[in-house]
Amino acid sequence: MASSAPETAPKITPRTASEEIVLQTTDLVAGYIPGVNILNGCNVYVAKGELVGIIGPNGAGKSTLLKAIFGQVNVRSGEILLNGDDITGLKADKLVARGVGFVPQNNNVFPSLTIEENLEMGVFLKPKMFTERLAFVSNLFPELGKRLKQRAGSLSGGERQMVAMSRALMMDPAVLLLDEPSAGLSPVRQDETFINVAQINRAGVSVMIVEQNARRALQICDRGYVLDQGKDAYSGTGRNLMNDSKVIELYLGTLATDHTANVSTPVVGG
Ligand SMILES: Nc1ncnc2c1ncn2[C@@H]1O[C@H](COP(=O)(O)OP(=O)(O)OP(=O)(O)O)[C@@H](O)[C@H]1O
Ligand SMILES: [Mg+2]
Repeated sequence: MASSAPETAPKITPRTASEEIVLQTTDLVAGYIPGVNILNGCNVYVAKGELVGIIGPNGAGKSTLLKAIFGQVNVRSGEILLNGDDITGLKADKLVARGVGFVPQNNNVFPSLTIEENLEMGVFLKPKMFTERLAFVSNLFPELGKRLKQRAGSLSGGERQMVAMSRALMMDPAVLLLDEPSAGLSPVRQDETFINVAQINRAGVSVMIVEQNARRALQICDRGYVLDQGKDAYSGTGRNLMNDSKVIELYLGTLATDHTANVSTPVVGG
């Protein structure tokens, strides 16, 4: 695990005064085992309409950050705000109702249910929204709309990710949290998944995405954070992080091992 910490902690103020913050964590400390903190004062935010990437080494706490936001890990101090309201420690059902959509890395669809039934599960808190939201996700992913009666378990990994993201989109979330949607997929399917995420964002959904495939994630993100040892070690625009020599040396060089051709010739300028 990379261990160097930045000299100055990044600020969490928005880029412009008019920017509307949808989701924000302030000095978040959280962990699983008593006395062991995994998040050590984590400050991140997502502005309305933004696509924000969280990258960092294995074990840095990326999944823990999403789980803490989604009420699945004990928050010991700090706070989580959704559109300015304190949602720290709320349970998943309350968070979904308030507009937090979460797609965990694994087991994110019901394999024995059809695509349509999976989408129904996504909106079970507000079944009246089904028709309208089905139209939204079918418009985003027309192939899904045509195969509503197919069992999710019979889909490819990439298609399953599409169903999982669509399920979370059924509640029209204020922010969508994605944990490594490209994990375990072939390079072509990974690419499709990144395109899908960018498309969801272009449709107006604010997104926070955790990714191992750091370089590819930063390409589609407006902004990103490098998480290291439970802290936001670096932040910047996707482009700036991708071109930052320190970030390349500490994180991108080792993280993007399946993109070694790019690593040896980092993008410069711009
Ligand atoms: N359920 C758990 N109980 C105890 N410790 C856990 C649990 N889940 C994760 N951890 C620990 O928390 C730390 C951070 O794990 P986390 O899964 O958040 O990392 P990550 O950044 O998502 O890593 P990866 O890139 O491998 O997915 C690790 O040291 C891990 O062992
Ligand atoms: Mg993880």
